[in-house]
Amino acid sequence: MRELKGMTVVITGASSGIGAALARALHASGAHVVLAARRLERLQALARELPGSRVIETDVTDPAACSALLAAVPEADTVICNAGYGLARTICDTTAAEWLDLLKTNLLGTTACIVAAVPQLRQRPVRDGWRGQIVIVSSALARRGRPAGGAYSATKAAQLSVAEALRVELAEDAIAVTSVHPIATDTEFTSIAVGWKNGAREPRQSAELVARRIIAAIVRPRPEVWPHRLSRWGLSLATLWPSLLDRYFRRRLKAEHSARPLLPRQGVP
Ligand SMILES: NC(=O)c1ccc[n+]([C@@H]2O[C@H](COP(=O)([O-])OP(=O)(O)OC[C@H]3O[C@@H](n4cnc5c(N)ncnc54)[C@H](OP(=O)(O)O)[C@@H]3O)[C@@H](O)[C@H]2O)c1
Repeated sequence: MRELKGMTVVITGASSGIGAALARALHASGAHVVLAARRLERLQALARELPGSRVIETDVTDPAACSALLAAVPEADTVICNAGYGLARTICDTTAAEWLDLLKTNLLGTTACIVAAVPQLRQRPVRDGWRGQIVIVSSALARRGRPAGGAYSATKAAQLSVAEALRVELAEDAIAVTSVHPIATDTEFTSIAVGWKNGAREPRQSAELVARRIIAAIVRPRPEVWPHRLSRWGLSLATLWPSLLDRYFRRRLKAEHSARPLLPRQGVP
């Protein structure tokens, strides 16, 4: 079991939602938290709540800023790559610029922090069996592309691939790698992701629940965290029988966007 008290945890995307919930819960457990995001005033307000925490203004789309973030915290033993945002667009409506922005934040922002963190983590002493841990906040959509959200899902699937490869690459270094797969979570995510609508009957969870599950996986490192456990089984079943979810998503798309079809018709009934 890794001791949270005295651990130094860097959290990207700490200015709201899951990142802020994680910072509060980790701080309450005695960890030193380093808060990173773009909105400085939000981070400073959170830091006033959490005495001893540090704020580092960071835009993860800038690899130099990710390097500077990690260089400022050589004592970090856990790095949580959580910064990200969504986009509600069909694949055919997603512009090249939108793809690039999403990839730069969700995927390359994650890998830039990892590349900066790993050499430092390798220098850390082994404590409670581990030198350190990298946590990547992906999504349940990593396992199933969401219609009118396919580009976002692709970035989340890419994060899962990174975690799967990295976990084995760093095993000999005693550095744990964990990917996190939340379902719809009550944060600012949906208001920032233009046009994003969760299904009326879709299960939801709180940012605090996601934070608790992530912290359990920091204490006892494991490969994946699915805060809503049923979704893991449902999505595993859907990989065996993909047409099941196709039917569900088609019905949902029709209901949500009956006024304006989102998918090109091309003679498809
Ligand atoms: N909410 C959901 O339904 C849900 C479900 C599955 C997965 N997730 C994932 O959970 C993670 C956290 O999202 P959330 O739900 O907590 O949403 P949120 O409340 O909107 O928080 C997103 C965080 O990411 C930060 N961020 C965005 N772009 C950034 C950039 N270029 N550089 C640095 N920080 C950046 C934001 O801070 P600034 O704007 O201040 O930079 C903010 O702190 C995301 O990776 C998201 O994909 C969310």
